[in-house]
Amino acid sequence: MKTLNHLFVKNIAWANEMKRNNPEFFSSLAKQQFPEYLWIGCSDSRVPANQIIDLPPGEVFVHRNIANVVTHTDLNCLSVIQFAVDVLKIKHIIVCGHYGCSGVRAAMEDHEHGLVDNWLRHVKDVARFNAKNLDGLSADDKHDRLCEFNVQEQVVNVCNTNIIKHAWDNGADLTIHGWIYNIENGILKDLDMCINSTAELKEKFTWI
Ligand code: CO
Repeated sequence: MKTLNHLFVKNIAWANEMKRNNPEFFSSLAKQQFPEYLWIGCSDSRVPANQIIDLPPGEVFVHRNIANVVTHTDLNCLSVIQFAVDVLKIKHIIVCGHYGCSGVRAAMEDHEHGLVDNWLRHVKDVARFNAKNLDGLSADDKHDRLCEFNVQEQVVNVCNTNIIKHAWDNGADLTIHGWIYNIENGILKDLDMCINSTAELKEKFTWI
């Protein structure tokens, strides 16, 4: 039985509007995608990649998970990065976190949330790595800083994949960015950690 009819109604209206603006939109997009950006963000429904940067279908390759985590052994995320870099030849990888992140908040709590706690161990690790900078802060400030440190950590994790290292070694024009989004006003902030070579990674993050 077909359900959620209201979403199909909205879909038809959206597709018609897109075609009204550009009759060739879907037919040209159907042939190939040439996105310049890979977005790695949180699954949070308030942080939809394309809408935030106001780009249409076809322009952003997207991977999202709870708390925008990039772990060294996550085949899902690594496959997205590899396909984006090696096949699509994207130019920019954006790791975008957000303030008010339920995943980061849950990672700071002591009580259980279920299976997801295993995933959030990665964010707890980030808190441990940055304990000196987080100690003594109010709960809200601690949350905000941990959201930022988490983006920083995941940017470094992206850079440390052999996918990115090989791409840079082979001369790829590829920059990794760390951004954070404010769900209270819709504004993005660049955390000023653009990295486009192994040398720059080592220079900026000397502990690596
Ligand atoms: Co989140």
